[in-house]
Parts: sequence; structure tokens; C-alpha cells
Amino acid sequence: MSAHISIDSDGTWLVPDNPKIAFIQGDGIGTDIWPGARMVLDTAVAAVFSNQKKIDWVPVAAGADSFERTGKWLPEETLETMRSLKVAMKGPLATPVGDGIRSLNVQIRRTLDLYACIRPVRYYPPVPSPMKHPEQVDMVVFRENTEDVYAGIEWASGSRESRQLLGLLKTHLDCDLPGSCALGVKPMSPEKTKRLVKKACEYAFENNRKSVTLMHKGNIMKFTEGGFRRWGYETALESFGDRMITEDLLYEKYEGIVPDGHVVIRDRIADMVFADVLLKPEQYDIIACPNLNGDYISDALAAQVGGLGIAPGANIGQACAVFEATHGTAPDIAGKDMANPCSMILSGAMMLDHLGWHTAGDAVRKAVARALAGGRVTPDLAGRLTGAKEVSCTRFSHIIGEKLVAGS
Ligand code: NAI
Repeated sequence: MSAHISIDSDGTWLVPDNPKIAFIQGDGIGTDIWPGARMVLDTAVAAVFSNQKKIDWVPVAAGADSFERTGKWLPEETLETMRSLKVAMKGPLATPVGDGIRSLNVQIRRTLDLYACIRPVRYYPPVPSPMKHPEQVDMVVFRENTEDVYAGIEWASGSRESRQLLGLLKTHLDCDLPGSCALGVKPMSPEKTKRLVKKACEYAFENNRKSVTLMHKGNIMKFTEGGFRRWGYETALESFGDRMITEDLLYEKYEGIVPDGHVVIRDRIADMVFADVLLKPEQYDIIACPNLNGDYISDALAAQVGGLGIAPGANIGQACAVFEATHGTAPDIAGKDMANPCSMILSGAMMLDHLGWHTAGDAVRKAVARALAGGRVTPDLAGRLTGAKEVSCTRFSHIIGEKLVAGS
């Protein structure tokens, strides 16, 4: 009998052996990649736990398919089911075109308060990469998901609201801007910064990582991004005691070598991070950053290790977690059984980790690595790999499933 996941009073997730988990297949290539991804995840769980555990997948409606059937892009029922089941997998969703229609992804993140966007980035050989040593990239980006200029508070040039606000700025704050300005607001708060940085630090300790880097532009935006830096240090040092050390202490007391069980908290200016992750990627581990920086660095890092087709992602809150492919609906190849399913499958591996089923998550990652190394890959990779043989999305998913059974 399947059952609901619950969370106890101290925040521990309680996962039954047969948890109900919601899934949104998604638009475009969602229909190509989801069946294979589901098969791989089910195979991993069955093989690792000798059929003692099994996911009960609960389909929920969202996107173009939902609109056709119900007239709603994102029915309230879908959000309610996701909230009640607590964990969901999600394929890509097309953003409906038209004024006043918000991105479905943003609506899901806002409504369920999924405040941390988590993107692990590592290299799977022989995926083509523009870097000489892509194997040195092994980072996890924690991006704040609810604040910053992405909060969607902005007014068009010449609008009544922007004229009003320009007047207020001039009269009350001595800030004289051109009357034609469009305006946006960049909210950043200690509470929301701290919960994000705390999550990044917890992850670092749980996964034996060495450092958490606060990535910010506090040199220019003193109170918003500068605040992120300050609040980040505060929460890291207050919440984890002696186990969290600053860079100064690392050199004063530990000769630059991070002692076991400790994590270094440090900060870097955002533009420097972009240079560093190309020039000395081995020096970066966990990166915690505000929304806009996180958007840029996640995709840049994904490109460094071979592109969005393989990069997994998760959006996690206090009471709900959604695991999703990081790419879009790829309308150019949708329905052609050509898409690379790895992003969805590796997001599923993150979900298995979140359930506490780490051995199954590891088994999936190993099987993906073996399948990629085998050289029979989807067209996005085959075209760029000498000696590779092109296979369909379905076939490639089955190859991953076979590696899994052979390797478990
Ligand atoms: P996209 O990621 O769908 O496609 C960009 C390029 O990458 C295309 O050439 C596509 O063929 C290729 N590509 C993407 N995923 C692939 C995969 N798994 N295997 C092989 N090739 C792959 O980005 P685009 O074209 O900007 O957006 C299309 C739609 O997707 C839009 O409606 C957009 O709003 C939506 N979108 C949704 C996201 C989500 O649900 N998380 C994220 C990004 C975009």
C-alpha cells in the first residue's frame, strides 16, 4: 500500500517504502524523456532495494496538455496535490505566450515556496566540453529562488506607476532619474538569504564538501548583495559553530588545509567567480548566491560540462521539493524521440537522494556515466563525439536501465 511522505516536528522527512510522488510529464520533449526516466528510476529502486521499495507515481496536470483538457495551464488541484504529496518530478513546461500570463515554473516555485534552486554540476566523460579539464568541475549551485530583481516587481517606461515612483524618488529621496525610466525593485532580506545559505551549508556538511562560496556583487550593490554576503556569513558562523571556519582561520590555524568534518565559508565577487570557474574550477565546491547571479552561473557551468541536456536540478522548500529537467521543451526536436533524457534522469537521482535513498541515487548516476562512456548516445551528443553511434531517446534510456541492472 502506498502512503504519503510526511515531515515531523523537527523538520525530518519521513519516507515510507511505497511513497506517492507526483509527476508532471511536461510539454514538448517532456513526452519523449519522461517514460524512459521513470523506467530508469523504477529499475534503480527495485534493483537496489530488492523490490522492498517502490514509488507510486501520481500524474498531475500542467502545461499545454492541461490547458487543452481543462482550460487551465496550472490547475489549483495540481498545486494542492504537489503540496500534499510533498515531492514531485517535473518535465519542462512551455511558458504560455501573451501579456499577463506568468511562467508556470515561477508560479509553482512561488506557490510552494521552493526557495532553493539546487544545481549540481559535474562532468560525465566523454561528453564534449569547451574546457581542457572539465573533470575538475564538481560544484553545486544554491540559488535563492524568491527574491532579487526576479521577484517580478517592475513598471514599464512611461506607465502611471513608474511616473508615480519617479516622483516619489525625486521628492522624498533626492533621486532625480530621467522621466522615461522603466523601474524595477530588487528586494533582498536577511530571512530569505539566511534560509538559503543555511541549506547550502547543511548540504556541504552532509556531503563532505570543503567550502561554501557566497557569490555576490556587494562591492557595487552595498545593501542588497552586500547584505547577502553579510547575512550569509552570519548564518554560516552562527548555525554551525566551530565546524564552520572562515578563510582567515583556515590559514592562521590549519595551514590552508580544511580539517575533516569542517567546511570553509568564504565570499567572492560574482564577476570573479565567472573567471575562476574557467581558470581554477577545482577551487570551487558549493556556491550560494542570489537569484540573478544564480541564473547566470548555473547555465554557464552547465555549458562548461557539456550543456543543458544533462544538467539536473531541484527546487526545494521547507515542506515541498520539486525535481526537474533544467532545459526547456525543445520544440525543434519534440515528438521525434531524439532528446537527451539525462537531465530528467539525473534530477530523478537527486530526488532519490532527497528521499534518503542515496544508494539508488548513486546507482543511477553510475549507470548514466557508464551509458555515456559506452558511446551509443542521443543525437545532441553523437554529432559532437568522434566514433559515437546515434541512438534514440528511448534506446538510450534502455541502455541506462541495462547498465543499472548489470552494475547493481
Ligand atoms: P530549450 O532548452 O527548450 O532549447 C534550447 C536548445 O537546446 C534547443 O536547440 C533544443 O533542441 C536543445 N535541447 C534542450 N533540451 C534538450 C535535450 N534534453 N536534448 C537535446 N537537446 C535539447 O530552450 P528554449 O528553446 O529557449 O525554450 C523552449 C520553451 O521551453 C519555452 O516555452 C520556454 O519558456 C520553456 N522553458 C521551460 C523551462 C522549464 O520548464 N524548466 C526551462 C527553460 C525553458
